[in-house]
Amino acid sequence: MKNFIQSLPKAELHLHIEGTLEPKLMFELAKKNNISIPYKNIQDVKKAYKFDSLQSFLDIYYAGASVLMTMEDFYKLTMQYLEKCNEQNITHVEIFFDPQTHTSRGIAFRDVVKGITKALNEAEKRFGITFFLIMSFLRHLSQEEAIETLKISLPYRHFIKAVGLDSSELGNPPSKFTQVFQMAKNAGYLCVAHAGEEGNASYIKEALDLLHVQRIDHGFRCEEDMELMKRLKKEQIPLTMCPLSNLKLKVIKRMEEHNIKRLLEYGLLVTVNSDDPAYFGGYLNENYEAIAMSLNLTKEQIKTLTQNSFKASFL
Ligand code: HPA
Ligand code: ZN
Repeated sequence: MKNFIQSLPKAELHLHIEGTLEPKLMFELAKKNNISIPYKNIQDVKKAYKFDSLQSFLDIYYAGASVLMTMEDFYKLTMQYLEKCNEQNITHVEIFFDPQTHTSRGIAFRDVVKGITKALNEAEKRFGITFFLIMSFLRHLSQEEAIETLKISLPYRHFIKAVGLDSSELGNPPSKFTQVFQMAKNAGYLCVAHAGEEGNASYIKEALDLLHVQRIDHGFRCEEDMELMKRLKKEQIPLTMCPLSNLKLKVIKRMEEHNIKRLLEYGLLVTVNSDDPAYFGGYLNENYEAIAMSLNLTKEQIKTLTQNSFKASFL
């Protein structure tokens, strides 16, 4: 099964570039940039990566991202991920970045976008990996701050395909961001949003009805609303699911509980993704392997999931 998964060309549609920061690079950049991190060594880091919720992860994830200072740092981070893509036969990527995590520390938006884009362009030449970039708004911050970020992004509009919505879901529903998503759409961006990871099915409905998103990131809790299920099926609205993330953040207790197989068999356009692979214990192929084993997927189902990843992409 492992070789079969490796052999299939795959697209990854739900990947936070800040979530690919491996401990080794974190230490290297912390030293270079003279930034203190609360870990003595790599074992210490691994020990800290025990989460009981989305928020417990986000606290550590934002702290980790503080070592990223220069354009070159973003280039290096992105290139390491793209080398992994090349190893795993990932031929197309749609990558999230969180500009507010960096602009709030005084890093220029330009440096973030240029560093990431430089690596993406190089990997397209070296490995033939195609790409789009998705700018995510942090939903624990205000809509005004998201609008400010949207404005800052406009000179770089041609580098960015879509806007997204991530960070702490509970208490920050899509309805909080209706205006900024409308503005983004008017500026020519496509739209996606995290919904139904910890938030209930109403968050998914709001993302569709109020933000008019093309895809739902996660969508795990869609089964709570049968009308929504019918709609997701009829309109073939993609769900970018992240099995190892769901396990590590305690959305599920055991991988055997994951609903991706049930949703696939019901006829939804579900896809497999790694979310924040440096924190959740596996890149894309490891996510496929985990569900293939725990849910007894057939080869045909795995093939369908990889085909779905291209269907659901912005290609
Ligand atoms: N959910 C919300 N925000 C995030 C995630 C996630 O899974 N990963 C990185 N930021
Ligand atoms: Zn995510």
